[in-house]
Amino acid sequence: MKKFSVVIAGGGSTFTPGIVMMMLDNLERFPLKTLKLYDNDGDRQGILGEALEILLKEQAPEIDFSYTTDPAAAFTDVDFCMAHIRVGKYAMREKDEKVPLRHGVFGQETCGPGGIAYGMRSITGMLEIIDYMEKYSPECWMLNYSNPAAIVAEACRVLRPDSKVLNICDMPVGTLRRMSQIVGKKPEELEVRYFGLNHFGWWTSVKDKEGHEYINQIRDYVSEHGYLTQIEVDTQHTDPSWQETHKKAKDILAVTPEYLPNTYLKYYLYPDYVFEHMKDHPEFTRANEVMQGREKNVFDHARQIIANGSAEGIAFDIDAHATFIVDLARAIAFNTHERMVMIVENNGAIANFPDDAMVEVPCIVGTDGPEALTQGQIPAFQQALMFQQVTVEKLVVEAYVENSYQKMWQALTLSKTVPSAQVAKELLDDLIAENGDTWPELH
Ligand code: NAD
Ligand code: G6P
Ligand code: MN
Repeated sequence: MKKFSVVIAGGGSTFTPGIVMMMLDNLERFPLKTLKLYDNDGDRQGILGEALEILLKEQAPEIDFSYTTDPAAAFTDVDFCMAHIRVGKYAMREKDEKVPLRHGVFGQETCGPGGIAYGMRSITGMLEIIDYMEKYSPECWMLNYSNPAAIVAEACRVLRPDSKVLNICDMPVGTLRRMSQIVGKKPEELEVRYFGLNHFGWWTSVKDKEGHEYINQIRDYVSEHGYLTQIEVDTQHTDPSWQETHKKAKDILAVTPEYLPNTYLKYYLYPDYVFEHMKDHPEFTRANEVMQGREKNVFDHARQIIANGSAEGIAFDIDAHATFIVDLARAIAFNTHERMVMIVENNGAIANFPDDAMVEVPCIVGTDGPEALTQGQIPAFQQALMFQQVTVEKLVVEAYVENSYQKMWQALTLSKTVPSAQVAKELLDDLIAENGDTWPELH
Protein backbone atom coordinates (compact mmCIF):
# COMPACT_ATOMS: atom_id res chain seq x y z
CA MET A 1 0.00 0.00 0.00
CA LYS A 2 1.18 3.54 -0.71
CA LYS A 3 2.72 5.34 2.25
CA PHE A 4 1.63 8.91 2.93
CA SER A 5 3.29 12.11 4.06
CA VAL A 6 1.31 14.17 6.52
CA VAL A 7 1.84 17.53 8.16
CA ILE A 8 -0.17 18.48 11.25
CA ALA A 9 -0.69 22.26 11.29
CA GLY A 10 -1.12 23.48 14.85
CA GLY A 11 1.47 20.94 16.00
CA GLY A 12 1.34 22.44 19.50
CA SER A 13 -2.38 21.63 19.85
CA THR A 14 -3.61 19.73 22.89
CA PHE A 15 -5.09 17.28 20.37
CA THR A 16 -1.82 16.55 18.52
CA PRO A 17 -0.58 13.66 20.71
CA GLY A 18 -3.97 11.90 20.73
CA ILE A 19 -4.21 12.19 16.96
CA VAL A 20 -0.64 10.97 16.42
CA MET A 21 -1.39 7.98 18.68
CA MET A 22 -4.59 7.35 16.71
CA MET A 23 -2.59 7.40 13.46
CA LEU A 24 -0.06 4.93 14.89
CA ASP A 25 -3.02 2.72 15.75
CA ASN A 26 -4.24 2.93 12.14
CA LEU A 27 -0.99 2.37 10.21
CA GLU A 28 -2.36 -0.75 8.54
CA ARG A 29 -5.19 1.27 7.01
CA PHE A 30 -3.20 4.42 6.43
CA PRO A 31 0.58 3.85 6.29
CA LEU A 32 2.82 6.80 7.02
CA LYS A 33 6.14 7.59 5.35
CA THR A 34 6.62 11.06 6.84
CA LEU A 35 4.95 12.83 9.73
CA LYS A 36 5.70 16.50 10.40
CA LEU A 37 4.39 18.98 12.95
CA TYR A 38 4.09 22.64 12.01
CA ASP A 39 3.22 25.53 14.33
CA ASN A 40 4.08 29.21 14.49
CA ASP A 41 4.85 28.90 18.21
CA GLY A 42 8.10 26.95 18.35
CA ASP A 43 8.30 26.80 22.13
CA ARG A 44 4.83 25.34 22.59
CA GLN A 45 5.17 22.85 19.75
CA GLY A 46 8.74 21.98 20.81
CA ILE A 47 7.55 20.25 24.00
CA LEU A 48 5.12 17.98 22.15
CA GLY A 49 7.57 17.57 19.25
CA GLU A 50 10.44 16.42 21.46
CA ALA A 51 8.22 13.97 23.35
CA LEU A 52 6.67 12.56 20.18
CA GLU A 53 10.12 12.21 18.60
CA ILE A 54 11.15 9.96 21.52
CA LEU A 55 7.89 8.03 21.36
CA LEU A 56 8.02 7.49 17.61
CA LYS A 57 11.64 6.31 17.72
CA GLU A 58 10.48 3.62 20.11
CA GLN A 59 7.16 2.70 18.53
CA ALA A 60 7.45 3.44 14.80
CA PRO A 61 11.08 4.14 13.85
CA GLU A 62 10.25 3.64 10.17
CA ILE A 63 8.28 6.91 10.11
CA ASP A 64 10.37 9.96 9.25
CA PHE A 65 9.24 12.36 12.01
CA SER A 66 10.12 16.03 12.43
CA TYR A 67 8.72 19.27 13.82
CA THR A 68 9.34 22.75 12.53
CA THR A 69 8.19 26.36 12.40
CA ASP A 70 9.53 26.75 8.86
CA PRO A 71 6.63 26.68 6.36
CA ALA A 72 8.84 25.47 3.50
CA ALA A 73 10.14 22.50 5.49
CA ALA A 74 6.67 21.72 6.82
CA PHE A 75 4.62 21.93 3.64
CA THR A 76 7.03 20.53 1.02
CA ASP A 77 6.25 16.99 -0.24
CA VAL A 78 3.10 16.35 1.76
CA ASP A 79 -0.09 14.55 0.70
CA PHE A 80 -2.31 15.70 3.55
CA CYS A 81 -2.34 18.61 5.96
CA MET A 82 -4.38 17.92 9.07
CA ALA A 83 -5.14 21.38 10.40
CA HIS A 84 -6.18 22.27 13.93
CA ILE A 85 -4.85 25.75 14.64
CA ARG A 86 -6.20 28.14 17.27
CA VAL A 87 -5.24 31.70 16.40
CA GLY A 88 -4.64 33.46 19.73
CA LYS A 89 -4.35 30.17 21.64
CA TYR A 90 -5.96 29.66 25.05
CA ALA A 91 -5.33 33.24 26.17
CA MET A 92 -7.75 34.40 23.48
CA ARG A 93 -10.22 31.55 24.01
CA GLU A 94 -10.51 32.86 27.55
CA LYS A 95 -11.42 36.29 26.20
CA ASP A 96 -13.90 34.80 23.70
CA GLU A 97 -15.64 33.25 26.69
CA LYS A 98 -15.27 36.10 29.20
CA VAL A 99 -15.79 39.33 27.26
CA PRO A 100 -19.45 38.57 26.35
CA LEU A 101 -20.24 37.86 30.03
CA ARG A 102 -19.50 41.52 30.78
CA HIS A 103 -22.40 42.39 28.46
CA GLY A 104 -24.94 39.93 29.82
CA VAL A 105 -24.37 37.40 27.02
CA PHE A 106 -22.87 33.90 27.39
CA GLY A 107 -19.33 33.34 26.10
CA GLN A 108 -18.47 30.24 24.06
CA GLU A 109 -15.65 29.06 21.82
CA THR A 110 -17.66 28.74 18.58
CA CYS A 111 -21.18 30.06 19.30
CA GLY A 112 -22.44 33.63 19.78
CA PRO A 113 -20.07 36.61 20.15
CA GLY A 114 -17.13 34.44 21.26
CA GLY A 115 -17.34 32.34 18.09
CA ILE A 116 -17.69 35.50 15.98
CA ALA A 117 -14.57 36.99 17.58
CA TYR A 118 -12.64 33.76 17.11
CA GLY A 119 -13.81 33.62 13.47
CA MET A 120 -12.39 37.04 12.77
CA ARG A 121 -8.98 35.86 14.08
CA SER A 122 -9.05 32.42 12.47
CA ILE A 123 -9.56 33.53 8.88
CA THR A 124 -6.10 35.12 8.66
CA GLY A 125 -4.35 32.05 10.11
CA MET A 126 -6.29 29.68 7.85
CA LEU A 127 -5.50 31.65 4.68
CA GLU A 128 -1.84 31.64 5.70
CA ILE A 129 -1.60 27.85 6.01
CA ILE A 130 -3.72 27.22 2.89
CA ASP A 131 -1.35 29.44 0.90
CA TYR A 132 1.73 27.63 2.28
CA MET A 133 0.18 24.29 1.38
CA GLU A 134 -0.60 25.38 -2.18
CA LYS A 135 2.83 26.93 -2.66
CA TYR A 136 4.85 23.96 -1.47
CA SER A 137 2.56 20.99 -2.24
CA PRO A 138 -0.07 21.97 -4.81
CA GLU A 139 -1.61 18.46 -4.85
CA CYS A 140 -2.03 18.33 -1.08
CA TRP A 141 -5.46 18.18 0.60
CA MET A 142 -6.17 20.01 3.84
CA LEU A 143 -8.42 18.19 6.29
CA ASN A 144 -9.41 21.11 8.44
CA TYR A 145 -11.06 21.03 11.82
CA SER A 146 -9.80 24.43 13.04
CA ASN A 147 -12.67 26.38 14.52
CA PRO A 148 -15.00 28.15 14.26
CA ALA A 149 -15.55 25.72 11.39
CA ALA A 150 -18.71 27.41 10.08
CA ILE A 151 -17.03 30.80 9.61
CA VAL A 152 -13.76 29.21 8.44
CA ALA A 153 -15.66 27.18 5.83
CA GLU A 154 -17.53 30.27 4.58
CA ALA A 155 -14.22 32.18 4.38
CA CYS A 156 -12.71 29.32 2.33
CA ARG A 157 -15.73 29.34 0.01
CA VAL A 158 -15.41 33.07 -0.59
CA LEU A 159 -11.65 33.63 -0.49
CA ARG A 160 -10.12 30.30 -1.61
CA PRO A 161 -12.89 28.68 -3.67
CA ASP A 162 -10.57 26.38 -5.61
CA SER A 163 -8.43 25.21 -2.72
CA LYS A 164 -8.49 21.57 -1.66
CA VAL A 165 -9.75 22.23 1.85
CA LEU A 166 -12.26 19.92 3.51
CA ASN A 167 -13.96 21.25 6.63
CA ILE A 168 -15.15 18.75 9.18
CA CYS A 169 -16.37 18.63 12.77
CA ASP A 170 -16.18 15.81 15.28
CA MET A 171 -19.53 16.51 16.96
CA PRO A 172 -21.74 14.49 14.56
CA VAL A 173 -19.25 11.61 14.86
CA GLY A 174 -19.01 11.91 18.64
CA THR A 175 -22.78 12.02 19.10
CA LEU A 176 -23.27 9.09 16.72
CA ARG A 177 -20.98 7.08 19.00
CA ARG A 178 -23.33 7.92 21.86
CA MET A 179 -26.35 6.90 19.76
CA SER A 180 -24.68 3.62 18.84
CA GLN A 181 -24.11 2.94 22.55
CA ILE A 182 -27.79 3.69 23.23
CA VAL A 183 -29.01 1.16 20.63
CA GLY A 184 -26.28 -1.43 21.22
CA LYS A 185 -24.61 -1.16 17.80
CA LYS A 186 -21.18 -0.15 16.57
CA PRO A 187 -20.97 3.39 15.10
CA GLU A 188 -19.81 2.00 11.76
CA GLU A 189 -23.00 -0.09 11.58
CA LEU A 190 -25.16 3.04 11.53
CA GLU A 191 -25.99 5.41 8.69
CA VAL A 192 -27.52 8.82 9.26
CA ARG A 193 -29.46 11.55 7.56
CA TYR A 194 -28.62 14.96 8.96
CA PHE A 195 -29.06 18.62 8.03
CA GLY A 196 -27.89 21.92 9.44
CA LEU A 197 -24.95 24.24 9.76
CA ASN A 198 -21.81 23.46 11.73
CA HIS A 199 -22.69 23.19 15.45
CA PHE A 200 -26.31 23.76 14.44
CA GLY A 201 -28.06 20.68 13.07
CA TRP A 202 -30.48 17.77 13.42
CA TRP A 203 -30.52 14.04 12.67
CA THR A 204 -33.61 12.95 10.78
CA SER A 205 -32.73 9.25 10.54
CA VAL A 206 -30.34 6.76 12.15
CA LYS A 207 -30.53 3.36 10.45
CA ASP A 208 -28.47 0.20 10.38
CA LYS A 209 -27.26 -1.20 7.07
CA GLU A 210 -30.34 -3.45 6.83
CA GLY A 211 -32.54 -0.36 6.95
CA HIS A 212 -33.89 -0.67 10.49
CA GLU A 213 -34.74 2.80 11.82
CA TYR A 214 -33.57 3.62 15.39
CA ILE A 215 -34.68 7.24 15.66
CA ASN A 216 -37.70 6.49 17.89
CA GLN A 217 -35.64 4.36 20.26
CA ILE A 218 -32.96 7.03 20.51
CA ARG A 219 -35.58 9.77 20.95
CA ASP A 220 -37.13 7.90 23.88
CA TYR A 221 -33.73 7.63 25.50
CA VAL A 222 -32.68 11.23 24.84
CA SER A 223 -35.99 12.60 26.10
CA GLU A 224 -35.06 11.09 29.46
CA HIS A 225 -31.24 11.18 29.68
CA GLY A 226 -30.08 13.45 26.89
CA TYR A 227 -27.03 11.88 25.22
CA LEU A 228 -25.51 10.81 28.54
CA THR A 229 -24.52 7.16 28.16
CA GLN A 230 -23.65 4.46 30.68
CA ILE A 231 -20.17 3.99 29.31
CA GLU A 232 -17.94 6.85 28.16
CA VAL A 233 -17.59 6.70 24.39
CA ASP A 234 -14.58 8.97 23.97
CA THR A 235 -11.80 10.54 25.98
CA GLN A 236 -12.56 14.16 25.06
CA HIS A 237 -16.14 15.08 25.95
CA THR A 238 -16.13 13.86 29.53
CA ASP A 239 -15.52 16.86 31.83
CA PRO A 240 -18.42 18.02 34.03
CA SER A 241 -19.39 20.85 31.67
CA TRP A 242 -19.63 18.37 28.76
CA GLN A 243 -21.73 15.97 30.84
CA GLU A 244 -24.10 18.83 31.49
CA THR A 245 -24.23 19.59 27.74
CA HIS A 246 -25.02 15.95 26.83
CA LYS A 247 -27.79 15.98 29.43
CA LYS A 248 -29.26 19.28 28.19
CA ALA A 249 -30.00 17.63 24.80
CA LYS A 250 -33.18 16.42 26.52
CA ASP A 251 -34.54 19.99 26.63
CA ILE A 252 -33.37 20.76 23.09
CA LEU A 253 -35.20 17.66 21.84
CA ALA A 254 -38.37 18.86 23.57
CA VAL A 255 -38.49 21.86 21.19
CA THR A 256 -38.28 19.75 18.01
CA PRO A 257 -39.23 16.21 19.05
CA GLU A 258 -39.31 14.92 15.46
CA TYR A 259 -35.52 15.18 15.02
CA LEU A 260 -32.47 14.51 17.19
CA PRO A 261 -30.56 17.73 17.93
CA ASN A 262 -26.86 18.63 17.89
CA THR A 263 -25.90 19.53 21.47
CA TYR A 264 -24.61 22.96 20.35
CA LEU A 265 -28.22 24.07 19.80
CA LYS A 266 -28.36 24.63 23.54
CA TYR A 267 -26.57 27.95 22.99
CA TYR A 268 -29.24 29.19 20.58
CA LEU A 269 -32.38 27.72 22.18
CA TYR A 270 -31.44 28.22 25.85
CA PRO A 271 -29.01 31.19 25.89
CA ASP A 272 -30.53 32.60 29.11
CA TYR A 273 -29.99 29.28 30.89
CA VAL A 274 -26.38 29.08 29.67
CA PHE A 275 -25.70 32.64 30.78
CA GLU A 276 -27.22 32.05 34.22
CA HIS A 277 -24.83 29.11 34.71
CA MET A 278 -21.79 31.05 33.54
CA LYS A 279 -22.42 34.25 35.41
CA ASP A 280 -21.99 32.47 38.73
CA HIS A 281 -18.31 31.85 37.94
CA PRO A 282 -17.26 34.43 35.33
CA GLU A 283 -13.60 33.88 36.14
CA PHE A 284 -13.73 30.13 35.48
CA THR A 285 -14.97 29.23 32.01
CA ARG A 286 -14.39 26.19 29.77
CA ALA A 287 -11.00 27.62 28.74
CA ASN A 288 -9.88 27.42 32.38
CA GLU A 289 -11.27 23.92 32.73
CA VAL A 290 -9.26 22.85 29.66
CA MET A 291 -6.07 24.67 30.72
CA GLN A 292 -6.18 22.96 34.11
CA GLY A 293 -7.24 19.66 32.61
CA ARG A 294 -6.43 18.54 29.07
CA GLU A 295 -3.72 21.11 28.36
CA LYS A 296 -1.92 20.51 31.65
CA ASN A 297 -2.17 16.72 31.34
CA VAL A 298 -0.89 16.62 27.78
CA PHE A 299 2.04 18.94 28.39
CA ASP A 300 2.95 17.35 31.77
CA HIS A 301 2.94 14.02 30.05
CA ALA A 302 5.20 15.29 27.29
CA ARG A 303 7.65 16.79 29.79
CA GLN A 304 7.79 13.48 31.61
CA ILE A 305 8.61 11.59 28.43
CA ILE A 306 11.39 14.09 27.73
CA ALA A 307 12.75 13.80 31.29
CA ASN A 308 12.73 9.98 31.12
CA GLY A 309 14.15 9.95 27.61
CA SER A 310 11.54 7.28 26.93
CA ALA A 311 7.77 6.95 26.51
CA GLU A 312 7.73 3.48 27.98
CA GLY A 313 4.85 3.13 30.40
CA ILE A 314 3.72 6.73 29.82
CA ALA A 315 2.39 6.79 26.26
CA PHE A 316 -0.31 9.35 25.42
CA ASP A 317 -3.98 8.31 25.19
CA ILE A 318 -5.21 7.28 21.75
CA ASP A 319 -7.90 9.65 20.50
CA ALA A 320 -9.96 6.79 19.07
CA HIS A 321 -12.92 8.98 18.18
CA ALA A 322 -10.62 10.89 15.78
CA THR A 323 -10.37 7.91 13.41
CA PHE A 324 -12.82 9.78 11.16
CA ILE A 325 -9.82 11.91 10.10
CA VAL A 326 -8.07 8.79 8.80
CA ASP A 327 -11.36 7.67 7.21
CA LEU A 328 -11.47 11.01 5.39
CA ALA A 329 -7.84 10.79 4.24
CA ARG A 330 -8.46 7.23 3.03
CA ALA A 331 -11.62 8.31 1.20
CA ILE A 332 -9.55 10.83 -0.77
CA ALA A 333 -6.52 8.58 -1.24
CA PHE A 334 -8.32 5.32 -2.07
CA ASN A 335 -11.65 6.58 -3.43
CA THR A 336 -13.50 4.63 -0.73
CA HIS A 337 -16.82 6.50 -1.14
CA GLU A 338 -17.12 6.68 2.62
CA ARG A 339 -20.28 8.34 3.88
CA MET A 340 -19.39 11.22 6.19
CA VAL A 341 -21.14 14.28 7.60
CA MET A 342 -19.19 17.28 6.28
CA ILE A 343 -19.42 21.05 5.85
CA VAL A 344 -20.00 21.79 2.15
CA GLU A 345 -21.64 24.36 -0.11
CA ASN A 346 -25.37 23.60 -0.13
CA ASN A 347 -26.10 23.68 -3.87
CA GLY A 348 -29.49 22.04 -3.40
CA ALA A 349 -28.61 19.44 -0.78
CA ILE A 350 -31.16 21.14 1.49
CA ALA A 351 -33.85 22.00 -1.04
CA ASN A 352 -35.32 25.07 0.66
CA PHE A 353 -32.05 26.72 1.66
CA PRO A 354 -29.69 29.02 -0.30
CA ASP A 355 -27.27 27.36 -2.71
CA ASP A 356 -24.33 29.40 -1.45
CA ALA A 357 -24.72 28.52 2.23
CA MET A 358 -22.10 26.29 3.86
CA VAL A 359 -24.20 23.50 5.37
CA GLU A 360 -23.45 20.29 7.27
CA VAL A 361 -24.89 17.21 5.56
CA PRO A 362 -23.91 13.60 4.85
CA CYS A 363 -21.61 13.30 1.84
CA ILE A 364 -20.05 10.52 -0.16
CA VAL A 365 -16.31 11.16 -0.23
CA GLY A 366 -14.03 9.99 -3.00
CA THR A 367 -10.88 11.07 -4.79
CA ASP A 368 -12.43 14.34 -5.98
CA GLY A 369 -13.75 15.25 -2.55
CA PRO A 370 -17.27 15.20 -1.06
CA GLU A 371 -20.55 14.88 -2.96
CA ALA A 372 -23.46 15.97 -0.80
CA LEU A 373 -26.49 13.71 -0.41
CA THR A 374 -29.80 15.52 -0.80
CA GLN A 375 -31.76 15.95 2.43
CA GLY A 376 -34.92 17.39 0.85
CA GLN A 377 -37.13 20.08 2.36
CA ILE A 378 -36.65 21.11 5.97
CA PRO A 379 -39.35 22.50 8.30
CA ALA A 380 -39.86 26.28 8.57
CA PHE A 381 -38.69 26.38 12.20
CA GLN A 382 -35.25 24.97 11.43
CA GLN A 383 -35.05 26.81 8.11
CA ALA A 384 -35.64 30.16 9.82
CA LEU A 385 -33.15 29.50 12.61
CA MET A 386 -30.53 28.35 10.11
CA PHE A 387 -31.09 31.30 7.81
CA GLN A 388 -30.56 33.72 10.69
CA GLN A 389 -27.39 31.93 11.79
CA VAL A 390 -25.90 31.44 8.31
CA THR A 391 -26.43 35.15 7.65
CA VAL A 392 -24.45 35.94 10.79
CA GLU A 393 -21.61 33.75 9.49
CA LYS A 394 -21.72 35.38 6.04
CA LEU A 395 -21.72 38.87 7.57
CA VAL A 396 -18.60 38.05 9.59
CA VAL A 397 -16.75 37.01 6.44
CA GLU A 398 -18.02 40.09 4.57
CA ALA A 399 -16.88 42.28 7.48
CA TYR A 400 -13.45 40.63 7.28
CA VAL A 401 -13.16 41.13 3.52
CA GLU A 402 -14.46 44.70 3.52
CA ASN A 403 -12.95 45.80 6.87
CA SER A 404 -16.51 46.74 7.73
CA TYR A 405 -17.44 47.82 11.25
CA GLN A 406 -21.05 48.12 10.10
CA LYS A 407 -21.28 44.49 8.94
CA MET A 408 -19.65 43.22 12.10
CA TRP A 409 -22.18 45.20 14.12
CA GLN A 410 -24.97 43.68 12.01
CA ALA A 411 -23.52 40.17 12.52
CA LEU A 412 -23.57 40.57 16.30
CA THR A 413 -27.01 42.21 16.22
CA LEU A 414 -28.43 39.36 14.14
CA SER A 415 -26.99 36.61 16.35
CA LYS A 416 -29.86 35.00 18.22
CA THR A 417 -27.62 35.11 21.29
CA VAL A 418 -27.42 38.94 21.51
CA PRO A 419 -30.48 40.86 22.81
CA SER A 420 -30.19 44.19 20.97
CA ALA A 421 -28.26 46.41 18.59
CA GLN A 422 -27.15 48.47 21.59
CA VAL A 423 -25.62 45.47 23.37
CA ALA A 424 -24.13 44.34 20.06
CA LYS A 425 -22.37 47.67 19.61
CA GLU A 426 -20.97 47.74 23.14
CA LEU A 427 -19.80 44.17 22.69
CA LEU A 428 -18.19 44.95 19.36
CA ASP A 429 -16.23 47.88 20.76
CA ASP A 430 -15.03 45.70 23.63
CA LEU A 431 -14.07 42.86 21.27
CA ILE A 432 -12.16 45.24 19.01
CA ALA A 433 -10.16 46.48 22.00
CA GLU A 434 -9.50 42.95 23.33
CA ASN A 435 -8.58 41.37 19.99
CA GLY A 436 -6.16 44.11 18.96
CA ASP A 437 -4.25 43.43 15.76
CA THR A 438 -5.35 39.77 15.62
CA TRP A 439 -8.43 41.25 13.89
CA PRO A 440 -8.32 43.21 10.65
CA GLU A 441 -8.89 46.89 11.25
CA LEU A 442 -12.60 47.76 11.01
CA HIS A 443 -13.88 51.14 9.95
P1 NAD B 1 -4.37 24.75 21.14
O1 NAD B 1 -4.33 26.22 21.42
O2 NAD B 1 -3.88 23.79 22.14
O3 NAD B 1 -3.56 24.47 19.78
C1 NAD B 1 -3.59 25.26 18.67
C2 NAD B 1 -2.19 25.46 18.12
O4 NAD B 1 -2.30 26.24 16.93
C3 NAD B 1 -1.25 26.22 19.06
O5 NAD B 1 -0.10 25.47 19.31
C4 NAD B 1 -0.93 27.50 18.30
O6 NAD B 1 0.38 27.97 18.48
C5 NAD B 1 -1.16 27.06 16.86
N1 NAD B 1 -1.39 28.15 15.92
C6 NAD B 1 -2.13 29.26 16.09
N2 NAD B 1 -2.10 30.02 14.97
C7 NAD B 1 -1.31 29.37 14.07
C8 NAD B 1 -0.90 29.66 12.76
N3 NAD B 1 -1.29 30.77 12.11
N4 NAD B 1 -0.08 28.78 12.14
C9 NAD B 1 0.32 27.66 12.76
N5 NAD B 1 -0.05 27.33 14.02
C10 NAD B 1 -0.86 28.18 14.67
O7 NAD B 1 -5.89 24.43 20.75
P2 NAD B 1 -6.73 23.08 20.89
O8 NAD B 1 -7.69 23.21 21.99
O9 NAD B 1 -5.86 21.92 20.89
O10 NAD B 1 -7.59 23.12 19.56
C11 NAD B 1 -7.01 23.22 18.29
C12 NAD B 1 -8.06 23.55 17.26
O11 NAD B 1 -8.86 22.43 16.97
C13 NAD B 1 -9.03 24.64 17.69
O12 NAD B 1 -9.35 25.44 16.58
C14 NAD B 1 -10.24 23.87 18.12
O13 NAD B 1 -11.40 24.64 18.12
C15 NAD B 1 -10.23 22.82 17.05
N6 NAD B 1 -11.06 21.63 17.26
C16 NAD B 1 -12.04 21.41 16.35
C17 NAD B 1 -12.84 20.32 16.45
C18 NAD B 1 -13.93 20.16 15.45
O14 NAD B 1 -14.93 19.53 15.71
N7 NAD B 1 -13.84 20.73 14.26
C19 NAD B 1 -12.64 19.39 17.47
C20 NAD B 1 -11.63 19.63 18.40
C21 NAD B 1 -10.84 20.76 18.27
C1 G6P C 1 -16.34 19.51 20.14
C2 G6P C 1 -16.59 20.38 18.95
C3 G6P C 1 -15.35 21.15 18.60
C4 G6P C 1 -14.88 21.94 19.79
C5 G6P C 1 -14.64 21.03 20.95
C6 G6P C 1 -14.35 21.83 22.19
O1 G6P C 1 -15.47 18.48 19.82
O2 G6P C 1 -17.02 19.66 17.84
O3 G6P C 1 -15.62 21.97 17.51
O4 G6P C 1 -13.69 22.63 19.50
O5 G6P C 1 -15.80 20.26 21.21
O6 G6P C 1 -13.91 20.97 23.15
P1 G6P C 1 -13.13 21.49 24.42
O7 G6P C 1 -12.86 20.23 25.15
O8 G6P C 1 -11.87 22.17 23.91
O9 G6P C 1 -14.04 22.44 25.11
MN1 MN D 1 -16.90 21.01 16.04
